[in-house]
Amino acid sequence: MPGPRLPLAALAATGSALLVRRALRRRIGASPLWPLPALEEPVSGRPRSRALRLLVTRHERIADGVVLLRLEGAALPGWEPGAHLDLVLPSGRVRSYSLCGDPADRTAYTVAVRLVADGRGGSREAHELLRAGSEVEVRGPRNRFPLADAPEHLLVAGGIGITPLLPMLRALDAAGTPWRLLYRGRGRASMPFLDEIGRLDAGRGRVTVSDGPGRPPLEALFRDIAPGTAVQVCGPAGLMDAVARALPAGCAPHRERFTASVEPGGEDTEFEVELRRSGRTVRVPADSTALAAVRAVLPDTPYSCEQGFCGTCRQRVLEGRVDHRDTLLTDAERAGSMLLCVSRARGGRLALDL
Ligand code: FES
Repeated sequence: MPGPRLPLAALAATGSALLVRRALRRRIGASPLWPLPALEEPVSGRPRSRALRLLVTRHERIADGVVLLRLEGAALPGWEPGAHLDLVLPSGRVRSYSLCGDPADRTAYTVAVRLVADGRGGSREAHELLRAGSEVEVRGPRNRFPLADAPEHLLVAGGIGITPLLPMLRALDAAGTPWRLLYRGRGRASMPFLDEIGRLDAGRGRVTVSDGPGRPPLEALFRDIAPGTAVQVCGPAGLMDAVARALPAGCAPHRERFTASVEPGGEDTEFEVELRRSGRTVRVPADSTALAAVRAVLPDTPYSCEQGFCGTCRQRVLEGRVDHRDTLLTDAERAGSMLLCVSRARGGRLALDL
């Protein structure tokens, strides 16, 4: 029997961002708007998106620290606003970027990449190595953040989180569906697509650009939100948590996270993973991940973000205790599965359904 459902504001008052995120995840995760990969099928039987090699035909700085990449091919798979593409970077790193071009254009995909100077190197590779004339392998597109079906929309973007929302804005505007946008950033020079957003707004006051300090409180923006309005948020976890806290009761956002959210766990120690269906056992060194060890023997094992927020690497656990280090899975999901990219073993050994 599930326990009483606390209002999100009450959870927020506990000061635990984790509780708020889990509560949101449970409420959103129950809907098809944020599905996790199903675990019923073996990996070998899971439908996989085709890998494509595309040509970079445009590499253009469109804001401070942001480049726009146009990746051309022929008869490309279609996509809908909110979809993302996995880029296999020259080093083999895989990074997901939201598509921000025109879904009707089947000759090219467009993504915008913000340079994360202290990141793990993926964005720097995209900035420095994916020059016009180079080729890049892509997988997808996939959509875990579709445009909700609603009579009105409020979109909230934090920084580069504008990228999946821009095609949504264009689609809403073309359909005549009422929309408003709150676009937050550190400063206008670093906020891409402001010109196009201004053109879409056409002076009708539907866009609030909030840059730098002295931002108006979110509650003021959300006070007059009409019943049934869909709220779609994309940006850093802090912004999404703040939006969830500020929304009126009964209004939960659809959201996409752009930064890792990993729970601190125990000490990193070596452990073993038995891949029961494959009859193999792999060793996971203290300085590596279960995902890397599993992919060394099962290279088709799916993954994407490698940071514990997309859910792509989720696998069924048959035996052993897991040191869960994600903030994505619900308690029920944690009871029988784990995210290989961040979580580890408690007790030296795990057995997986692989
Ligand atoms: Fe994204 Fe593991 S690869 S959660």
